[in-house]
Amino acid sequence: MCGIVGYIGDRQAAPVLLDGLEKLEYRGYDSAGVAVADGNGNITIVRAKGRLSSLSEKTDGGKALKGCCGIGHTRWATHGEPSECNAHPHFNDEQTLAAVHNGIIENYTELKQKLLRRGYNFYSQTDTEVATKLVDYYYKKHKDPVKAIANFILRVKGSYALAVLFKELPGRIYAVRKDSPMIVGVCGNDAFIASDVPAILKYTKSVYYTGNAEIVCLSVGTACFFNLDGETIDKSPVEIKWSAEAAEKGGYEHFMLKEMHEQPEVVKDTLAAYLFGSEIKFPNTSLDEEMLGKIGSIVVVACGSAYHAGLAAQYVIENFARLPVRVELASEFRYRAPVAYKNCLVVAISQSGETADTLAALREAKRLGMRTLAIVNVVGSSIAREADDVLYTRAGPEIAVATTKAYSAQLIVGYLLAIKLAAVRGTMTKERKDELVAELLLIPDKIRSILLNKENIQRFASEAANKKNVFFIGRGVDYAVSVEGSLKLKEISYIHSEAYAAGELKHGTISLIEDGTLVLGIMMQRRLLEKTLSNLVETKSRGAFVAALTYEGNDKADPDADVKLVVPPTDDMFAASLAVIPLQLFAYYLSVLKGNDVDKPRNLAKSVTVE
Ligand code: F6R
Repeated sequence: MCGIVGYIGDRQAAPVLLDGLEKLEYRGYDSAGVAVADGNGNITIVRAKGRLSSLSEKTDGGKALKGCCGIGHTRWATHGEPSECNAHPHFNDEQTLAAVHNGIIENYTELKQKLLRRGYNFYSQTDTEVATKLVDYYYKKHKDPVKAIANFILRVKGSYALAVLFKELPGRIYAVRKDSPMIVGVCGNDAFIASDVPAILKYTKSVYYTGNAEIVCLSVGTACFFNLDGETIDKSPVEIKWSAEAAEKGGYEHFMLKEMHEQPEVVKDTLAAYLFGSEIKFPNTSLDEEMLGKIGSIVVVACGSAYHAGLAAQYVIENFARLPVRVELASEFRYRAPVAYKNCLVVAISQSGETADTLAALREAKRLGMRTLAIVNVVGSSIAREADDVLYTRAGPEIAVATTKAYSAQLIVGYLLAIKLAAVRGTMTKERKDELVAELLLIPDKIRSILLNKENIQRFASEAANKKNVFFIGRGVDYAVSVEGSLKLKEISYIHSEAYAAGELKHGTISLIEDGTLVLGIMMQRRLLEKTLSNLVETKSRGAFVAALTYEGNDKADPDADVKLVVPPTDDMFAASLAVIPLQLFAYYLSVLKGNDVDKPRNLAKSVTVE
């Protein structure tokens, strides 16, 4: 959701900015622009609606803009339609200051009125132009960029990452963030700001995380940080473990396909982070046996697929550890006046660690005095930093908008937490624990074998290409993975789909079944096979085209299913890790067949930093 890149150093800025923006394309955008300052501080802005290629064409790949200091932006429209005029950067009236901005300025109407009264003109519909002119106003007043930005912070309500070039201060970029991501990297004479690590990974792996309301000043080879009072803040960089190649397609047609194929390694790496022999430990956290033993209940807060990983974790934790778990959409939790339970652990799950609703839910839980744990992929992200403890997933950079490998890694952390809680609470024998750990270690190879046989799913997808509606049904963990399968299909193939707990069908939904409706039943829960099967048969007798996704060796659905898809057998509680792979592939192949933009589906952004 919007991307910012800023560069200052010895190189020509524009090509570096375009390259960085390309690495942030996954975040979703509809227009783009760059501002470059030449040696005298003269600032040139070029903007274009649509893909980055239009901006690249307009600037001859950046070569047309001379200067070693600049800021760039990809915009995902919030205020005002996607257009060149609304694209960032924006100038002040005299064209002596240019700014880019992510996020939403909530009180922009009020601020705009004030600025209009002070003689400012506005040319776009954006809140960013208001932000730009507000900084300009304070800069003219104080003649000091840090003071100007500090005043901006005090006046503005909402979330933002803001980067500013001042003509009077050539060779510097000023930036600030609040609840919108922004990192800083310095390497030799090069200094960068960016919304996310992949934008600068090929130059440096040494990254500074900026806190809320910390003001950054970048100059050649240095980054200085200031608080609201203009005092300097000491910061140490964090070494990023991701390789630059991890953020490239590596020969795959799409990032999504590549990321699906990375799942065996991602699961292995995530297991390796917390498994020490057959012991599960959570190093560098306060999650020791004493602390875990005190937990009386868990509330999971998350959005989208991360919420679905939470749904699966709910079944597994309750089953293994006999601990009550509730899973809530973060966007609901944050506004519904939740009640704080004694000894309740609030677990926020997020790939990006920047999702606005999840961050707000986490803050609400903290405000209520609840203990918090984050399961997050992006090191140093807001959610990771604000939670009392963090368990990182080891998925590496996820670029495709539709999550695959991060979801798989989140499942694994959920299982490990469930087994550890069970061990601490004495609800599981050591033999059962060892058996489960041994099974977890087999999951990477089992995922690999499903991926090796992906042509079966491709064939099934081509049979389903003309379907208008697809229903996923399942019980228990199979229901949790049904919901994820349905979301994958909707978001990238644009085919209407719903997921239902199989037992719910006859309470209303079965009326939607018509001749040829595709109903995909997930049948991985041994105890519930007959139950789900009879629900599938009910739909078949009403004309549905029925597919069963089950484990090898289970032939119960054979007489009734029109199509059977199989994955290797595993423990019922780990079923989501295997069943999700064919569902991801199914959505992927349908998206490809329909000629959609698989990695950047329409209307979607990777990291949802506005509510
Ligand atoms: C779906 C998807 C989204 C995210 C959701 C939460 O494929 O990617 O539903 O899961 O926006 O994002 P994070 O995990 O970054 O908090």
